[in-house]
Amino acid sequence: MLRNALRHESADHVPVLADEVRELLAVQPGETVIDGTFGAGGHAALLAADLQGKGRFIAIDKDASVRPYFERFQRGTSVSARFLRGDFAVILGQLADNGVEADAIHLDLGISSMQVDRPERGFSYAADAPLDMRMDASAPRSARDVVNEADERELADIFRRYGEERFSRQIARAIVRRRDEQPYERTTDLADTIKQAIPTPARFGDGHPARRVFQALRIAVNDELGALEAALPAAMRMLRPGGRIAVISFHSLEDRIVKQFIREQARGCTCPPEFPICTCGNEPALRDLTRKPLRPGARELEANPRAASAKLRAASKVVG
Ligand SMILES: C[S@@+](CC[C@H](N)C(=O)[O-])C[C@H]1O[C@@H](n2cnc3c(N)ncnc32)[C@H](O)[C@@H]1O
Repeated sequence: MLRNALRHESADHVPVLADEVRELLAVQPGETVIDGTFGAGGHAALLAADLQGKGRFIAIDKDASVRPYFERFQRGTSVSARFLRGDFAVILGQLADNGVEADAIHLDLGISSMQVDRPERGFSYAADAPLDMRMDASAPRSARDVVNEADERELADIFRRYGEERFSRQIARAIVRRRDEQPYERTTDLADTIKQAIPTPARFGDGHPARRVFQALRIAVNDELGALEAALPAAMRMLRPGGRIAVISFHSLEDRIVKQFIREQARGCTCPPEFPICTCGNEPALRDLTRKPLRPGARELEANPRAASAKLRAASKVVG
């Protein structure tokens, strides 16, 4: 694997599986690179370095607060770089519609350390803050709105689907009961309800009792799975023949979306399995570069425990 060429300030987001991303995307001088999840620009700095001063870099993030990181990135690179604020699904679609082509596209899903570590953003159950969780602070629906407005069934469904929370129904019921008396405003109010709603022995296993519900709410508030599903076909339209895409996911549902997309595009044929011969004539459009997802090794995990659930998949667009 290539050596991680840049060092990062300790307060920044540490880029996950950075050497692996760099090797799979194999960026060459003169190419166009898109980072759809710019964050603190950790991966971006490494990928831009591989352009060796020649090429183009497009950085996307829906969180306006990453702009200073982009400005720092821009000062450190000699390639032409632009920042586009918005949802990667929307922006990749718009770029594709406008005929912009890319040689390498990177998505590092979820939230960054800067977002989790700023208590006022409301992502953390460990700090008392407004119940927000929006990556895009201008988005209309916050976690507070979901928790106070979704019906009991919808809440239970969110907690079960996105958080794999065993006590989803008990927690949803407790939330609805409490919000009838007093609507939720703060992260700690919600964390307290969750703790009270689950059986006492379950409060002491597997991390903080509110961890799974907070993760589930974050995924719902930011429509993280919907964005990924829309982004992959848009990225595919943008990729030049031979272009590469790499996606790091942190949740089994995200990884499943990426895996299925790559499998379908790599298979080409869409005939039902019972057909004796192919009648659709579709050719494979992607080559799978990672049959099994790459995971962080022990050394990376020791340095960055937040990488624990990361899975990296990559593919290249078939030529011809
Ligand atoms: C895990 S961080 C990326 C960190 C980055 N790779 C680095 O090395 O610093 C994910 C970033 O993607 C952004 N993000 C997540 N979903 C997004 C979406 N649908 N559209 C645009 N940005 C998104 C978040 O705001 C966050 O800044």
